[in-house]
Formats: sequence, structure tokens, C-alpha cells
Amino acid sequence: MQEKIIILDFGSQTTQLIGRRVRELNTYCEIVPYNKFPHDDPSVIGVILSGSPFSVYDEKAFKIDIETLRGRLPILGICYGAQLISWELGGNVEGAPSREYGRARLQTVNQNDPLMQGIEPGAQVWMSHGDTITALPAGFEIIASTDQVPVAAYRAAGDEKLWGVQFHPEVYHSECGMQLLRNFVVDICGSRCDWSAASFIETTVSQLRQQLGDDKVVLGLSGGVDSSVAAVLLNKAIGSNLTCIFVDHGMLRKNEFTDVMRDYEGLGLNVIGVDASAKFFSELAGVTDPERKRKIIGKGFIDVFDEEAHKVKDVKWLAQGTIYPDCIESLSITGTTIKSHHNVGGLPEKMNLRLCEPLRLLFKDEVRAVGRELGIPERLISRHPFPGPGLAVRILGDITPEKVSVLQEADHIFIQGLRDWGLYDKVWQAGVILLPVQSVGVMGDERTYERAVALRAVTSTDAMTADWAHLPYEFLAKVSNEIINKVRGVNRVCYDISSKPPSTIEWE
Ligand code: XMP
Repeated sequence: MQEKIIILDFGSQTTQLIGRRVRELNTYCEIVPYNKFPHDDPSVIGVILSGSPFSVYDEKAFKIDIETLRGRLPILGICYGAQLISWELGGNVEGAPSREYGRARLQTVNQNDPLMQGIEPGAQVWMSHGDTITALPAGFEIIASTDQVPVAAYRAAGDEKLWGVQFHPEVYHSECGMQLLRNFVVDICGSRCDWSAASFIETTVSQLRQQLGDDKVVLGLSGGVDSSVAAVLLNKAIGSNLTCIFVDHGMLRKNEFTDVMRDYEGLGLNVIGVDASAKFFSELAGVTDPERKRKIIGKGFIDVFDEEAHKVKDVKWLAQGTIYPDCIESLSITGTTIKSHHNVGGLPEKMNLRLCEPLRLLFKDEVRAVGRELGIPERLISRHPFPGPGLAVRILGDITPEKVSVLQEADHIFIQGLRDWGLYDKVWQAGVILLPVQSVGVMGDERTYERAVALRAVTSTDAMTADWAHLPYEFLAKVSNEIINKVRGVNRVCYDISSKPPSTIEWE
């Protein structure tokens, strides 16, 4: 049985980070809404209560009866989680006059406590709280303090395995955070630390064989890492019963369709490549509104995929590369809402097939680790994200095959340049945008009146926020020269220096 830690999500922005840290300790964990603890699951070895945007005094604060968990499993409360435990068991929590946010140092630490093993006074921790614990329940003990916060960490009386920390051990800035989480997960909960890419592959392949039997499965490949890893995993489990479909809507990067098809075939996948570019170009002709472009491409994609999938006899399942952050039930301040996500919106409903999502428990970095373990080439694993509608949302205004080919050439020079200069892996994603403006230039003795393009490169960790990448001037100069000299029809190159928010990564 796969042992696991349960993380109760009280709505903090860092809940997912707690999950990632526990996984980094080679321990499987699941994040569930605060009120959905799986009481009848015997594989749970410990529970962590996350932070929350609420104060325990808020009318709408998320609450649980901590007595239902006490004494059964080791418990660790983080920030609000620590305040809630203390408050429910008779301690006191008070609003501080101002929020404490940022770095602090532990002044005193009880190093005899199992949670604090190996953590020295002076260690930096990250604080982010409005309320503070001012009195602990009877018998509870302080095990760490800072100069601002006397109760930075506490434990319950006697041998009870219950702890709370006011700071956020899951955040990178908490230097002793990983040590503290290791103490909890490994020493206190007794994790065997046997969660790894190899163990995931072994268990998942045998589960997929059981689940799918001799059934036929179709999967949409995009060239991206998630769908590629899902395909190779399924191929390992059910071989030729998996049919992959890769639709070329005509707005992929230069040579992408042929390059990626070659990689897929090299991986032994049974892939149908469909060149549907003529259909997409004709449906998009004259369309300038970004949302209409997206809708046309989304619907066109479903039509093509559906038609191809129906050529596969007796297909019963649709597989998708959905990953964990896409399907965690996230809490909104007004109540519990479920973020439902499908890589290809509308497809499962239309096709009336059962869904198979073998990566739905993995974080992105784990998907990459599984991909490497499966022997997928690095160029597929470490590819930048690329939007489903492709270059269509990077051509401002209407789309023509000629504009796509101008953009493909410019984009190719930029991306190849990033690779040659060792910059590709340093940015989250990059691309070129074809602008709907022309400007005057001079080439030789000739006046030119041609297109302008913008280069976009960003750094990010999750695409929710992003900063423009501070690429070297020499590199930008080289790329600009090369684009203007080699791409016919472009005589001006700009660099986009907007961050997200308030801008977005894509221009449309
Ligand atoms: P924005 O532009 O919203 O992009 O900052 C965030 C991330 O999402 C990608 N993106 C898309 N991906 N279909 C997709 O599959 C889309 O319509 C789409 N729009 C944006 C974008 O490339 C970035 O990684």
C-alpha cells in the first residue's frame, strides 16, 4: 500500500508548496480540502494543516474538529493551522496591530524536541501572519521563539504527536524548513521514503494494465511534455492498444510537426499525424478577434480529433496528460469550488469516452523526472510551454499562411539563438510576436516599409506571474541583426519588457 501524508488545505497560497516539499522527501502526499479528511484510508501516516487567508475569528473561517484527528495520527499545523489547533484546544490567538511578513530568525530553539532536531538558534524562517498565538492550551510547550513572536513553534503535552509552527517551513526562504519537514515526515510519521519516479512508473503501469485490460485508448499529443510522458507511460502499459493523434493546425513552430513526429516514432508510439492546416487557415481567414481565434481553433481541433479517433475501432478511453496542479480542488474565499480542467476543453463530453489521466497525481517537475526515467529525449522533456492555439495568438490581426511562415522563421532564429547561447533552459518560455504594424527602414540604398516583430522571453515558476528575462544586450543585438537580415519582410525588432501582471505572457 502506498503510504501517504494528507495536507488539509485551508486556502493558503503556499499549500501546493507544502505538497511539493513532502514529495521532495520521496513521500507521497495528497492535498485535500480542509473538511475532506479521508477517515477510512488506512494508508495515511500523518496530517499537515495548511495556512489560510482567514483569521480564526472570521465568520467565514474554515474550521475542523481537531479532536477527530488527535491521538490517531501525527499532526503538524502551519501558520493558520497552528493557530486553529491552539485556539480550539483552549489557547489564545490575538490580532497583531500589523501583519508580520518576511524574514525572521529563531532566537531560542528546544533542540531536544523531535520536530526541532538539527535546527539551530539563528536559523532564518519566513513569517506571513496577521494573528499571533498569545497563550497555549494547558500543558502545551513552546519549542521555538523569535524576538517578535514568542510562540514561533509549539508541541502538545507529554507524548502526544501534535505540533504547530507559526512560520512557513515550506517556503524557500525558511532555511531550516526542509529539515523541519523531514523531522516530521520521516522521523515522526515514519515515512519509508519510497516515492520515486521509478516506483511511480512501476505502480502506474500495473494499475493501467488492470484498469484498461484489452481496451483501446486514444490520446491527443501536442508535442509538450505532459502529453508525451502520458503517451509513453500508456504505451509501456498497453502497447499497441494506444493510438496517439497529433494534429497539425498549421500554426506550430518551424519544422515542429516533422521533428516531433520523428521523436514520437523513435519512442515506439503508434501515432497518427494529421495535417489539418488547410481547414484551420480557411476557418481563420479574416478573423482578428483573439477570443474568436481561440474558439475556432479549439472547435476545429475537437472535430479533427473526434473524426480520427472514430477511425480507431472499439475505442473506449480518452487519455489526457492532466497533471496535479490542474486538478487539485482549490478553495475560494466564498466556499469550496472545484477547478475542473481538461487539456482539451470539451473533448471528453463530446466523445462519450471514459477518461484516463495517469499523471493526475504528479507535479510538473515529477512529470519530467518520470519522462527521463522512461528514456524520453531531453529535447522533449525540457521544452518550453507552447500555447495550444500556437502561433495564431502570436500573430496580431488576421492570420495568413504567409504571415505564419514569416513568424516561423523569426521564431526559429530566436529559439535557436537561445539554445546556442546556453540561455534556453534559463528562461521559462520565449517566442516572437508578429505585430500588425509596418515601419520605414533603409536597406542598401532602398527605402523599406515592412513589418515589426517583438521578442518575448520570460522567467517564471508557474506562468501565474512572470518577469521579462534580462537577456544580454549582445545576444539581443545578434538576434535582431539575424532576423532583419534573414527574414524577408521584417525590418524592425523590439524586445518586450513587460512583466505579468499587469501584462500577460502571450500578447493575445
Ligand atoms: P498568459 O498569456 O495568460 O499565458 O500569461 C500563461 C501560460 O499559458 C499559455 N497559454 C495557453 N495555453 N492554450 C494553451 O494551451 C491557450 O489558449 C493559451 N493561452 C496562453 C501561455 O503560453 C503561457 O505558458
